[in-house]
Amino acid sequence: MDFFSITGGRRLSGKIRAESAKNAILPMMACAVLTKEKVIIRNCPYIKDVLSMKEILEYMGAKVFFSGDGVIIDASDLKRFEVPSFLSKKLRSSIYMLGSVLAVNDKLKISFPGGCDIGARAFDIHLDGLKKLGVDVIEEEGCILCRREKIKGSEITLKYPSVGATENLIICSTLCEGSTVIKNCAKEPEITDLIRFLKKMGAKIYGEGTGVIRIEGVKKLNGVEYTPIGDRIEAGTYILASLISGGEIEISNVLPQNICSLLNYFCNNTCKIRISNDIIYIKKEESFSGLYVSTGPYPDFPTDLQPVITAFCTVADGKSVIRENVFENRFLYAYELKKMGANIKIDNNVAYVSGEKKLYGANLYAKDLRGGAALIVASLTAEGESKIFGTEYIDRGYYNLTEKLSLLGADVKRNYEN
Ligand code: EPU
Repeated sequence: MDFFSITGGRRLSGKIRAESAKNAILPMMACAVLTKEKVIIRNCPYIKDVLSMKEILEYMGAKVFFSGDGVIIDASDLKRFEVPSFLSKKLRSSIYMLGSVLAVNDKLKISFPGGCDIGARAFDIHLDGLKKLGVDVIEEEGCILCRREKIKGSEITLKYPSVGATENLIICSTLCEGSTVIKNCAKEPEITDLIRFLKKMGAKIYGEGTGVIRIEGVKKLNGVEYTPIGDRIEAGTYILASLISGGEIEISNVLPQNICSLLNYFCNNTCKIRISNDIIYIKKEESFSGLYVSTGPYPDFPTDLQPVITAFCTVADGKSVIRENVFENRFLYAYELKKMGANIKIDNNVAYVSGEKKLYGANLYAKDLRGGAALIVASLTAEGESKIFGTEYIDRGYYNLTEKLSLLGADVKRNYEN
């Protein structure tokens, strides 16, 4: 079993660059089926979720290859309109094939999508929306069977601003007959970026970044070459990694306004912060006090940084309260942090943390992507060596993790299975 080994206690400082956002790239890859021309996504990290999406597209008949810093997709000749279980269970984002394939083809069969085990992760909002667009949906034996005559524009009000459902319904409506209005949309920056990408393909979409999005269907979309926004969650992870070590970091390719909810915690005297267009510099000045964190849809604090900020709070002065409002099961990592001496009590969706002077190295098991990132961050401050197993989860979303942490001065190594 591969594992990361980290000996904590080094002060992290230096400059790194964020990759393009995983959660922008994955729906964009699905969108390649909307056109007969090539789709090129630049600055695309070679992470496991991207490779899984590549496999899905290839299974359906697309040609997908990496060249330079980009991934090039030619989906002009699709042959199979199904996503079998061995592929769909690899990642939640397989669900984006619903919106994209049904925009161009009258049927799709997809096994229930997998992904990190962080909650129920239902897909009723996706399916209810697709039904409004004219899709007949049957769920049977772990599969979703969809058929439609045409995609017809409609008015859809989401019962919750789901990121994936907002994206799926936008994608599916790009080629619809008439126009679609989606209300109570999610507003995550990755959705706004997806809309910019689709507009570059020729889609007519209005209202990005707001809670109401209107899509005027067009007859055809063209190919596109696009560089997605930087990954705010990756950037936030390295910022917290550096601060927990008492260090300083300059991270480029991330829009500061996209992680205001994180930076706001450090705008007091505890840190020196400088921001410019797409660069954040942050340096620890004073000791940190406990935090109150409450996750929610953007612009609230991102659930994807909840595990990492909880790890950070384990060594802050005093008490912290972390309320998880998006997923039901996103505290599994806390039991691993306790092995390191962290003082955390979980009560339903709330973690109560009392800061400790020190954490201690331990053998730790990642059970999902961001929980894994939390274990990495905690290990950087712990006394002694930690071994972090479950690299396959962390590889889903963090490209060149050991290289980037080493560049910042961490004592980290990846150990490969023989
Ligand atoms: N939900 C439903 N029904 C639905 C869809 C969602 O009940 O049809 C519920 C979910 O169970 C969850 C909540 O709504 O409790 C939010 O889910 P959402 O659909 O917004 O999340 P997602 O699209 O599955 C994306 C990101 C996640 C991120 C969430 C929330 C991608 C590929 N994934 O997931 O990223 O946590 O939005 O911001 O964009 C990660 O990167 O580690 C990750 C899990």
